[in-house]
This record gives sequence, C-alpha cells and structure tokens, in this order.
Amino acid sequence: MKTKRWGNVWEEKVKHQGEVGIIHGTNSNMGRVLKQLEKDMEFISSWALPSIPLGGNILDCGTGPMARYAVGFSKLGYKVTGVDVSPTTIKLARGWAQKAGQKIDFVNANLVDLSKISGKFDFLFCIETFGHIPSYLSLKTLEQFNKKLKMGGHGFIQFWVDKEKPFMRLLYEFLYFSALKIKKMFTPVFHVNVSSYTSEEIEDMCKSTGFEILKNERGYYLLKKIRNI
Ligand SMILES: C[S@@+](CC[C@H](N)C(=O)[O-])C[C@H]1O[C@@H](n2cnc3c(N)ncnc32)[C@H](O)[C@@H]1O
Repeated sequence: MKTKRWGNVWEEKVKHQGEVGIIHGTNSNMGRVLKQLEKDMEFISSWALPSIPLGGNILDCGTGPMARYAVGFSKLGYKVTGVDVSPTTIKLARGWAQKAGQKIDFVNANLVDLSKISGKFDFLFCIETFGHIPSYLSLKTLEQFNKKLKMGGHGFIQFWVDKEKPFMRLLYEFLYFSALKIKKMFTPVFHVNVSSYTSEEIEDMCKSTGFEILKNERGYYLLKKIRNI
C-alpha cells in the first residue's frame, strides 16, 4: 500500500479525527488541549511576544483546526494570518475564529511554498508543525520563513530535538506502536511524518537560512532574521 506521510495526509486525518485528533492525537480530549494552550500562551507571552511590536503582524504556520494560537494572538491585538495545508482544517479554523469574535486571515498553502501569501511579517510562529515536514524539505521551508519575515523580524519555531532516548521512552514507544498496529485493524490510522534534529543541525539550518538563534528552551527556538536569502 502507498504510504502518505505529509501534505494531504492531513486532510484525510482531520476528516476522520477532527480537531483534537489533529492537535493531540486520538488518545486526548478537548479539556487537555485547552489546558495546554493556556500554559503555552503564558510561556509564549513572556518568552517571545516582547520581541513583536504592539499591533504587529503574525504568520501562524500550520495554524491547525482550532487556530488556537492565532486566536490567542489576535485577542492580544496582533494582526494574524493562519496558514495550513488542509482545506478542511482552514474551514474549521475559520469557525473557531468567528466563534471567538476574532478577525483572522486564513490561507490554504503548504509551508514549502508561501508565495501566495502577500506582504511580510513581524513574527512567524510555527508550533507542533515543523517536525511534520520531511527533513529533505526543512531548508526549503526555513527559506520560505525567511522570505515572509521583515528584516529583524522574529520567528518562534518548535523543533523536535534529537536526544538519546531513556529506556522508559523506548518502552513507551514500543507499547504505543504495538497498540497502533492493533488499532489499525479496526479504524483508519494516519502516519504523519516526524523529523527531529540534533541541536547542531538546528543551528546549521538556522544559520544557513539567514537566522540568528536568540534563545532556545525545550525545543522552542526564538530566531531573528539577520539577512535576506
Ligand atoms: C499537529 S497540528 C498543530 C496545529 C497548531 N499549530 C496547534 O498547535 O494547534 C499540525 C498542523 O499543521 C498542518 N500542516 C502539516 N504539514 C503542513 C505543511 N507542509 N504545510 C502547511 N500546514 C501543514 C496540519 O494540517 C495541521 O493542521
């Protein structure tokens, strides 16, 4: 069977699994998604948002079906554009933004080609998404991020950092993938691409695509665009 791990796999996944399945996987629930959002917004507000001019514009890359961060930024007074590869996700995201009373622009595009998004941004945000881009396209994606940022603009990117796994993690993964194998017999499952990088690789990728790393914590990287590419 042909295996799809990126691109329109997200469209199929969201149709079967809805908002929670896309954001946290099928073992989670809306309560947990909202709780994590609250914690993350608190962290992002103190850690990264001071770098953005008040009322500045933000591009949320891989905005997701709840546009949860896009809505959060919009509530704080920023002008937000959310981009996602899945049309159904964009439709759901519009609904969440409307419900929250926030005016957000949404664009259906793949992060490897952001040419249909006009203008340049003060801040580019990419959480829970960059690792879903196959590694052979990661530089191309970072180049697109560079092109969409103003000079001196900032990026907040979550990378999945490759580290040696402790025994308990290996055990968890064994149990998780075994359970998935069984689940697959009863319901469709969607394998999405997962790419992780060592911190040296992240430094190289950022440097070669015109970014300076200002700080990083737990895989969250705050970048500054220092040259055009
Ligand atoms: C795990 S979800 C995270 C969503 C959102 N950032 C959040 O945390 O709520 C990943 C999202 O990225 C989108 N996505 C995955 N690959 C993409 C790509 N190459 N271009 C644009 N969007 C992509 C998916 O459709 C999905 O909505």
